[in-house]
Amino acid sequence: MKNKILTVYKSTTGFTRKYAKIIGEALSCPVMDYREVTVKALSGYDTIVFGSRAHAGRIDGCKKIREMFEKSGAKHLVLFVTGATPNAAGEVIEAFWKQNLSADELSQIPHFYMQAGLCYERMTFGDKMMMKAAAVMIRKKKDKSDSDREFEKAISCSYDILDRKYAEPLIEFLRADSLSQ
Ligand SMILES: Cc1cc2nc3c(=O)[nH]c(=O)nc-3n(C[C@H](O)[C@H](O)[C@H](O)COP(=O)(O)O)c2cc1C
Repeated sequence: MKNKILTVYKSTTGFTRKYAKIIGEALSCPVMDYREVTVKALSGYDTIVFGSRAHAGRIDGCKKIREMFEKSGAKHLVLFVTGATPNAAGEVIEAFWKQNLSADELSQIPHFYMQAGLCYERMTFGDKMMMKAAAVMIRKKKDKSDSDREFEKAISCSYDILDRKYAEPLIEFLRADSLSQ
């Protein structure tokens, strides 16, 4: 592979870290925690793969990594996002990307979604409070739709729906070396 790749991850409860390790092993590329990343650390690579979680509809930490990427001289940025939403919920995921990337970015930045789950045991206090507020809001809602009920059930406890098969599209994309052409 001509393309020199670095995978960077931002992970609070461990799901994104797990996917980053899977990607790193599959592509034999180094994997770095977001907290250790500097512009200097990114320079010297052709492609930066950045993985983070979906957080209230946003990509956690994306702004900072994009600023560092711009300064680093690396050529390509590839994004992956993990979340509680199952990959089967295509429309929800599409709306998520549209909320986070402009039309130009959608066509220029390769982006991949990977279902992961929820882990209350490892969540920060602030995140637990956000989840609690969402649970209270949905519980109090009158005339719940099917998707409200699904959401209520989905956030009621921890679960793990991570599977390496959801990392395969990104791995295959980079194995095909599409970016260095
Ligand atoms: C406060 C909060 C907000 C979240 N918002 C979303 C969301 O908008 N969409 C989604 O699919 N998952 C959402 N999740 C689930 C996380 O994205 C999911 O657990 C993710 O895989 C965590 O990654 P990590 O273990 O690497 O930190 C949210 C979780 C928390 C705690």
